[in-house]
Amino acid sequence: MSSSSQEFFHYRDGMLFCEGLPLGSLAEKYGTPAYAYSQGTILHNFERLRETLAQLPALICYSVKANSHLRILNLLRQAGAGFDVVSGGELTRALRAGAAPDTVVFSGVGKTQDEIDAGLAAGILMFNVESAGELALIESRACALQKVGRISIRVNPDVEADTHPYISTGQMIHKFGVPKEEASELYRRAARSSHLKIQGVACHIGSQILDVEPFWKALDEILAIAGHLAAEGISLNVLDLGGGFGIPYGGESPLDLERLAQGLNERLRSSSMKLIVEPGRTLVGNAGVLMTRVLYVKRNHRKNFVVVDAGMNDLMRPSLYGSYHEIVPVQKHSKERIQADVVGPICESGDFFAHDRNLPSVDPGDLLAVLTAGAYGFVLSSNYNTRTRPAEILVNGAQAELIRAREKVEELMATEEPGTGQ
Ligand code: LLP
Repeated sequence: MSSSSQEFFHYRDGMLFCEGLPLGSLAEKYGTPAYAYSQGTILHNFERLRETLAQLPALICYSVKANSHLRILNLLRQAGAGFDVVSGGELTRALRAGAAPDTVVFSGVGKTQDEIDAGLAAGILMFNVESAGELALIESRACALQKVGRISIRVNPDVEADTHPYISTGQMIHKFGVPKEEASELYRRAARSSHLKIQGVACHIGSQILDVEPFWKALDEILAIAGHLAAEGISLNVLDLGGGFGIPYGGESPLDLERLAQGLNERLRSSSMKLIVEPGRTLVGNAGVLMTRVLYVKRNHRKNFVVVDAGMNDLMRPSLYGSYHEIVPVQKHSKERIQADVVGPICESGDFFAHDRNLPSVDPGDLLAVLTAGAYGFVLSSNYNTRTRPAEILVNGAQAELIRAREKVEELMATEEPGTGQ
């Protein structure tokens, strides 16, 4: 288990605890598969980041997509977070969780007119604009609604972030942002409009980044653009560095936040821009586990398979990105070990949590915990194979609360029109 999660997820007499509660009793009470989150971990992660950035005038806008449960948004809002949203739905969630509109930034390459209207109506801090077409639409909608649209241009700085290709976003080959060469022209256009107000500049170069260097490359590009614009009389007040701060899943070192903060201090010392960061994973990733029960242990030819009751529909990261998640027994009882694939019940060979994993031997009925599942876990879940999405439980000390009931099959079919069937 990663070091920072150890205090909150730990073994006591061979039983895995989340804060003050044994996961075995949570699984008995609420069933499996289920996500269990540690409130203490989320707040600890937030406080740690805030303290690390304390030297800078910084707003931490939690990236809602990582885990958008209203309760978690509420917790982070109360702790002082703003929000990074990427859809009208996420904007609605952030506002429902009590976010002050001027702590909300709206990112994403495909904002619709309705979503832009919603952002304008709410009076959000800024749209991070990703194309000339989007800038024009925000301007025309702001004009129609008699509002002023506050904007930053999301610059694509063309830097490589050493991460999975699906979650790298800051290179020319990616759909994100505006090429750095074209950004200045968009700023000039925005500066001429009475319905647009320039807030600053944004970028986001990818997710699960473990090394600080790509951030410096991106920052250098952005500061150069800010410098050129200042010389033209266009001043930027906000620098949004995006998110992407990597965490350990299997023994890697996390992104060194102290180094990041120190480097930001040095580079931004002479600038009057306010810093925004958009972390998702680093706030909630190690705060959640997926509890699952072993259904069968089987052997096909030379391979062992541990078949569990959670599937790729519950936690998609291993199937989608080949991501590593540590898997541990909830109750340690065996000294023997096996080498096995840990797989779900879904009818696809891509439905796996681990390949050839060395695990303590398990029997049907045993509980396993898939660790570091708090970010991009439940939010990526689906109903594939008409499987109901899992329950979510929030643990705070010795208290557990069911914050989302397990779905029921009837609910899945409730909006379907079956026809008369003759
Ligand atoms: N800001 C923007 C504009 C983003 O696109 C993202 C993530 C973030 C912030 C937050 O990034 P974080 O701090 O969480 O790395 N489903 C993938 C990750 C997709 C990330 C998408 N954008 C996964 O499970 O690894």
